[in-house]
Amino acid sequence: MYAQMVKSTGQPVKTLDEMDPLERAFQERINANEMIEPKDFMPDSYRQTLIRQISQHANSEIVGQLPEGNWITRAPTLERKAILLAKVQDEAGHGLYLYCAAETLGISREEMSQKLVDGKARYSSIFNYPTLTWADIGAVGWLVDGAAIINQVPLQRCSYGPYSRAMVRICKEESFHQRQGYAMLQTLCTGTDEQKAMVQDAVNRWWWPSIMMFGPPDQESVHSAQSEAWKIKLYSNDELRQKFVNQCVPQADHLGISLPDPDLKWNEETGNYDFGEINWDEFYSVLQGNGPCNNERLGARRKAWEDGRWFRDGLAAHQAKQDDAARKMPKVA
Ligand code: 3HC
Repeated sequence: MYAQMVKSTGQPVKTLDEMDPLERAFQERINANEMIEPKDFMPDSYRQTLIRQISQHANSEIVGQLPEGNWITRAPTLERKAILLAKVQDEAGHGLYLYCAAETLGISREEMSQKLVDGKARYSSIFNYPTLTWADIGAVGWLVDGAAIINQVPLQRCSYGPYSRAMVRICKEESFHQRQGYAMLQTLCTGTDEQKAMVQDAVNRWWWPSIMMFGPPDQESVHSAQSEAWKIKLYSNDELRQKFVNQCVPQADHLGISLPDPDLKWNEETGNYDFGEINWDEFYSVLQGNGPCNNERLGARRKAWEDGRWFRDGLAAHQAKQDDAARKMPKVA
């Protein structure tokens, strides 16, 4: 069975007094906003948390190419095709930076990829939904990349150096992705009635899965307390979700479309938009492998992994030959 299941491993956060001296010194560095680098001491649980999150993030970028790549050959103009191609290539690049960042923690790219194809590692729930029409590509850019930016901008200031630095470039590119999606929807919304209806339909389907991207509600988020103490997470799942909703409502108004939530309304007291109940059963069901495209996405990754085996083997054999030759070279005094 596909293993995108929630397995709660949340531990209560230790106080400084409960920590051993090494761990305490580490936490004090974090509290002082010092950046942690690969060769620094870190508790094994910090290392494992980062490996889990960064590899999930990398996997999401790689799997995230699939719903959009599907439309490259069907983009309506040469310009749209070039933009979409660039965007999908960016996602591949993001995956690679992130796998490299995770490798600094002592896991290999091979292991991470193997875990993904074995269904033992997660990728974002959002990529288990289908892109049915061209307007979906706009909705993905506006909503999915928009949600990703809100989640990822704070990661530029997270405590682990290689992750935070990788996020700087990623966020710049995600910002372009979000704008291209919104611009595409603006074009469609000023087109024919059919085009505007196509946008409304796409937004109706992508809205709720996009706000689920931020993860379970805070009270069910098993890793948040510890990840916030380590400054891997600077905001909670619900805080970021609220920020996203607040940002999207005026943008939807500007497009002249509605968001599919009758409970969405401005709350003068909190200064936020209130929104309706999220269908968490759907979220957990997608995580358990039952989303509309889980099998297709994982099947595509498995095929790519197997198809590329001969090439990886070739590279490894070439490297082994070079290492062997280097070993046999006479040493120069
Ligand atoms: N999809 C799949 N799994 C999810 C999820 C989602 N949207 N949200 C949470 N989960 C999983 C967690 O991985 C965790 O699983 P585990 O215990 O088996 O490891 C479990 O649900 C409990 O959730 P928590 O809130 O306790 O987990 P985290 O503290 O890790 O928070 C997160 C989840 C907010 C997604 C955090 O990991 C994060 O910020 N990750 C970095 C960003 C990222 O991975 N984004 C994915 C989208 S990338 C992308 O969007 C590409 C772009 O091009 C569009």
